[in-house]
Amino acid sequence: MIDKINQLKKELEGLSATDLGAVEEFRIKYLSKKGLIPLLFNDFRTVPADQKKAMGQALNELKNFATERINALRESLETAETADPTLDLTRTPAPIPLGSRHPLSIVREEIISIFSRLGFTVAEGPEIEDDWHVFSSLNFAADHPARDMQDTFFIQRNPDVLLRTHTSSVQSRVMEHTEPPIRIICPGRVYRNEAISARAHCFFHQVEALYVDQNVSFADLRQTLLYFAREMFGPETQIRLRPSYFPFTEPSAEMDISCNLCGGKGCSFCKHTGWVEILGCGMVDPNVLESCGIDSKKYSGFALGMGVERITNLKYQVKDLRMFSENDKRFLEEFQSAH
Ligand code: DAH
Repeated sequence: MIDKINQLKKELEGLSATDLGAVEEFRIKYLSKKGLIPLLFNDFRTVPADQKKAMGQALNELKNFATERINALRESLETAETADPTLDLTRTPAPIPLGSRHPLSIVREEIISIFSRLGFTVAEGPEIEDDWHVFSSLNFAADHPARDMQDTFFIQRNPDVLLRTHTSSVQSRVMEHTEPPIRIICPGRVYRNEAISARAHCFFHQVEALYVDQNVSFADLRQTLLYFAREMFGPETQIRLRPSYFPFTEPSAEMDISCNLCGGKGCSFCKHTGWVEILGCGMVDPNVLESCGIDSKKYSGFALGMGVERITNLKYQVKDLRMFSENDKRFLEEFQSAH
């Protein structure tokens, strides 16, 4: 009997099939009720008692081997049948396309991260606003030109519903319901009724910062600005403050940084001045504090606001503002290696 087992094992090892029909024939020949292996099991009765154990084991092994062998033949034919013959499985796979973060998101996150190291936390407000939060509470006179239809997108008149033209509206919303100390940073999208060109868009992004506490001084503002500029544009960066005017700050200033393209020597980007303007800032006007219910005799504060597109242009030299909203993949993919 052991010879028979060995012979069948050899046969099984040598089996090959080119179609599933042949595999089925093998199964019938070896494993079906009247197949060769069950027949051997029938002969098992005649095996002497002292060999029964070894023989039983050999028989079981043969049966398992046959089942595996036939299944393997069937599987290899089945997968070969479904595989696309035009596929070249030896080719190296195409790289998996990874998405990239939008340059404005990268820069916004970096601004937030720098200010968060100074203890500022993010505050957000609605894009659809009212006159009070965008203008009146921020000390804009009733006839201030920024309220004009030329600038502001009105959704409704009387009562006014409009798209915010700056993120300074978040300042008044936070001050209204928060006791100082207040230290917030407000990123967001803003809207202005401008003709779209390489240099202007009807929507863009700003980040506003506000610090209100006892004894906040212009020196605190200046030092915060210097820290921000050096973290953002490198430790060599110089800043300068020029007097300016905003209804909600007094005194007000605009900040320039030494041109980060030419290092301040003068180039076409900085119009050969060595300086580029990056933000507006100032001490919060006491009228604004009072409008928002904060005692201006006890508290003072500073505020600043910057355009995210502008900072991004300085970092990455994007020449046309429209690139930011067109979602051209070739443009976006350039930022794949940026963090
Ligand atoms: N809101 C101003 C704008 O949209 C930017 C700005 C200037 C914000 C001075 C401020 C500030 O907080 O103090 O142009």
